[in-house]
Amino acid sequence: MGYDYGSDRVSSLPTGLRMWPSKRYAEMHLRSLQNPEGFWAEEARKLDWYKTWDHILDWKPPYARWFVGGRLNACHQCVDRHVKTWRRSKVAIYWEGEAGETRVLSYSTLFREVNRFASVLKQLGVRKGDRIALYLPMVPELPIFMLACARIGAIHTVIFSGFSAQAIADRVNDTQARIIITADGGYRRGNIVALKEITDEAAKLCPSVEKVIVIKRTGEPVPMAAGRDWWLSSLLDKSEMLVKPEAVESTHPLYVLYTSGTTGKPKGVVHGTGGYLVFNHSVYEWAFNIREESVYWCTADVGWVTGHSSIVYAPLSHGAAIVLYEGAPDYPTVDRWWDIIEKYGVTIFYTSPTAVRMFMRYGEEWPLKHDLSSLELLGSVGEPINPEAWQWYYKHIGGERCPIVDTWWQTETGGIMLSPAPGIEPILLKPGSVTFPLPGVDATVVDAEGNENPPGQRGFLIIRKPWPGMLLDIYGAPELYRESYWSRFPGSYYTGDFAMRDEDGYFWLLGRTDEVLKVAGHRIGTVELEDAVVSHPAVAEAAVASKPDAVKGESIVFFVTLKAGVSPSSSLKKEIVELPRRVIGAIATPDEVYFVQSLPKTRSGKIMRRVLKAVASGQSVGDLTTLEDEASVEDVKKAYQSLRKVSDTSKGN
Ligand code: WT7
Repeated sequence: MGYDYGSDRVSSLPTGLRMWPSKRYAEMHLRSLQNPEGFWAEEARKLDWYKTWDHILDWKPPYARWFVGGRLNACHQCVDRHVKTWRRSKVAIYWEGEAGETRVLSYSTLFREVNRFASVLKQLGVRKGDRIALYLPMVPELPIFMLACARIGAIHTVIFSGFSAQAIADRVNDTQARIIITADGGYRRGNIVALKEITDEAAKLCPSVEKVIVIKRTGEPVPMAAGRDWWLSSLLDKSEMLVKPEAVESTHPLYVLYTSGTTGKPKGVVHGTGGYLVFNHSVYEWAFNIREESVYWCTADVGWVTGHSSIVYAPLSHGAAIVLYEGAPDYPTVDRWWDIIEKYGVTIFYTSPTAVRMFMRYGEEWPLKHDLSSLELLGSVGEPINPEAWQWYYKHIGGERCPIVDTWWQTETGGIMLSPAPGIEPILLKPGSVTFPLPGVDATVVDAEGNENPPGQRGFLIIRKPWPGMLLDIYGAPELYRESYWSRFPGSYYTGDFAMRDEDGYFWLLGRTDEVLKVAGHRIGTVELEDAVVSHPAVAEAAVASKPDAVKGESIVFFVTLKAGVSPSSSLKKEIVELPRRVIGAIATPDEVYFVQSLPKTRSGKIMRRVLKAVASGQSVGDLTTLEDEASVEDVKKAYQSLRKVSDTSKGN
């Protein structure tokens, strides 16, 4: 299989973080790759099926369909199943509002609510396969509506509540959603985010939208369009108490979630039901050792895949309690998160390296004020974690007691792919390494020709076998699906990430290979950003690059050429900075804008992004070691020098 699990080396290592031989993991991983179907069938039996599958895997590259012929329901899996056990009276959701209000929902309360919400959707004529857009703050109604959609076989598409009207409209139009569910507002740093007004602006651009359901959160007056807009409370008045879960096919789409790629348009990643649930149920057991008595807090927004899998579907499928926090991490004081951990007795805490770095800056005196002894395990996700942040997290949050699971995955993979697996067997952790692929994941690192790289050599991370959490497709764009993931290394899934394995076989993630940025863990396409800036009438061309940032990992730097006769000014700079915010959302705000005479391009007209990146980061051409540079070294040098000159003189925002 070409795997070196490094167990001999690992068990001979003396360090304080040591774990334990990885024999059990190695045995399990090997078995899963030798007989993936048998392995996953065994895992799938841990869930409830109305009808078992006829066959486990239907692999017609590039499409994998899992548990074909099987029928199940995601809402049943996450709710009904628990209500039949002692868990009916145990906590499902601890919710904390930004201003300090709390709501605690038991599994039986959750059961009642998902039924009523599902009935509301039915009243409005929603049927299996219909798409429903959710544009909501972090309130319990968000997971409840997701589960209510799943209950009746409707497909939810959650839109992050920080996105702009245009971003909502793009997503709603792509899925042709009939209903948008939103709120009268959301809270952020004590301010109200006008979600309903933004929804109204978006709905003007969305002919498919028939109804808008509005949840009362702030109580502020909002415009309501007669016949189109409905308060949730008025619909709930007429709801039924029980709605039978729809026994959907294993391959029935559970949701569509948009993510950035290399094109100007976000891609609608489609996830199925059976494979997605089986995969997530298993990987949360392996990576997080999650149990029904866990109090699990993933700090992501439900609007990202992390929120879908790590807040909703995986922990609830295990009957764990989740923490849902509405507001800003450091509001009103910078120990808000540590306060929440103490208050609810969080046992598993999962966050991003950006957040860890931010809290590291505030200082360890803040977590020290709190009793964090309930914590058993810490997780990290979204971007590489630098060893310094790792150590701080380990020491000051985990009290040198809790393993850190650095989990690598993507919107497309549906669930965690590479990560330590303390739920199987603890191993020695190396700060900054995601360690090994989880069982069932056949990951490796290859060169540009697809040959496996020797240890220590950077290459492309690929997955050689389908896994149950794998995306079903890109919504309405099968060519894009094939092209994005399956054309670069035929037969293997292309992740778009650089990686390396070390002498012990550990995997290290080394950033994106493509035109996708990771800003504060958020995935943003360079083309989307550039399209937004080029829409300015004074701009001729725009190219984006990223620059290392001590907290956010990467920050956004723009190089802009102006149309003839337009001269650079600080007001123009401000307008340019504002555009990505308006078109995409605040997460896309550029940090720096440079006006330049021309952009460095290859002979075929492709922008040499690496040159821009080097200039933005203040590196020399010598650092431009790349795997696939189209331009000659001379071209790169020339472009670098011309850009360097101009950017030096136009700096100083
Ligand atoms: C990209 C996927 C799925 C979780 C949230 C992000 C980067 C993710 C790690 C990690 C290094 C990581 C990769 C990946 N990434 N986790 N542990 N170490 N890089 O989902 O928005 O789809 O982004 O995030 O570059 O391709 P996403």
